[in-house]
Amino acid sequence: MVIKPRLKGGLALTNHPIGAKEFVKRQIDYVKSQDKYEGPKKVLIIGSSSGYGLATRISLAFGAGAETIGVAFEKGVEGKRAGSAGWWNTIAFNEAAKKEGLVSKNFIGDAFSMEMKDDVIKFIKEEFGGKIDLLIYSLASAVRTDPIDGVTYRSALKSTTKDITGPTINFEKEVMEETTMGVATPDEIKSTVKVMGGEDWKLWIEALDKGGVLSEGFKTVAYSYLGPKVTYGIYKEGTIGAAKRDLEHTSDVLNDFLKEKYNGEAYVSLSKALMTKASAVIPIFPLYAALLYKVMKEKGIHEGTIEQKHRLLTQMVYGNNPVIDEERRLRPDNWEMREDVQAEVEALWDKVTPDNFKEISDYAGAREEFMQLNGFDFDNVDYDADVDLDELAKLKP
Ligand code: NAI
Ligand code: NA
Repeated sequence: MVIKPRLKGGLALTNHPIGAKEFVKRQIDYVKSQDKYEGPKKVLIIGSSSGYGLATRISLAFGAGAETIGVAFEKGVEGKRAGSAGWWNTIAFNEAAKKEGLVSKNFIGDAFSMEMKDDVIKFIKEEFGGKIDLLIYSLASAVRTDPIDGVTYRSALKSTTKDITGPTINFEKEVMEETTMGVATPDEIKSTVKVMGGEDWKLWIEALDKGGVLSEGFKTVAYSYLGPKVTYGIYKEGTIGAAKRDLEHTSDVLNDFLKEKYNGEAYVSLSKALMTKASAVIPIFPLYAALLYKVMKEKGIHEGTIEQKHRLLTQMVYGNNPVIDEERRLRPDNWEMREDVQAEVEALWDKVTPDNFKEISDYAGAREEFMQLNGFDFDNVDYDADVDLDELAKLKP
């Protein structure tokens, strides 16, 4: 079967398994080109198969020699459906890790369930040396079933103030177009907090604590975003922002608990805006990202997912140069938020039109990044070659 890209708006309907291997390899190569660092030895990553979670795992494994457990929600080959991008990313990571003698274990399923927590804890106890030093919480999901009341909540990408209309990029049609983000009902705000807030992170820490698998000095970091003024309406003041504030509050609760019992730490880290499966579907966000890339690349301070997470880990979480704000949040988004960067992005934002967006933004770069998330647009992958799905179906993460 020959696999070609098929898009629907900001959603990729297909992905390329051989391209996924290249996607992972390039991140590994980056980490290997940098100095090794002293970091955690045993790590659990929730949301490990793509985006920021995957990049974190790659940095920790190949930069600090960490043994890693990954939890992700992905699909394998089903008939003619070639599996999800995160599925192939995970297989590619596994292969590369094992080649270097690095333990890598994967749990594919629902991180929100208690069953998943029990399975992971059992594995840590019986086969992972009994303790973990670090938990990274990097989930992006649209739905969560609360394991306590059994209710299924759906997140809504909406405003909490007023209808917001603004430009975005449609990668499928390659046009800049207006999108409108409607106002959430109180129920939708609550549901989004249920899905993307801190509740599940806390349940993980409580379960791991009860299971006795947290080491002295244990750390946990959850990923969040704040963003600049041009995206406040959709992000900071949107449903997703409400959920992220809940996550930040949870980090304080967890930090008190972990400090007391393990001399440990809990942080939220605010990351840079990047194209990922999750962010590509947020209205307005892709255009902001394309303008931001333009400015940051010109200034020589652009980072992809792997550079961003590698800096977070080596300089901040396990380094001596943490950038922390007054709300105790780690700020690897500090270059994105620089005044000169934002002033230039705002100036471009005022100038951008459907006719000039490809020239004045880094449209090509943002689109390439989006395509590469799904294994496409790598110059050294032959996309006309037949992909043997029956053979690939034998591989498991
Ligand atoms: P992503 O979509 O690439 O990754 C999400 C991960 O969550 C995948 O590994 C997926 O399999 C996993 N997942 C989803 N539902 C699951 C479930 N029920 N059970 C187990 N695993 C599940 O997203 P991305 O962008 O890497 O997001 C990760 C975190 O980083 C999010 O909290 C996001 O808000 C944050 N972030 C993202 C930024 C961006 O620009 N992309 C910027 C700043 C923060
Ligand atoms: Na992730």
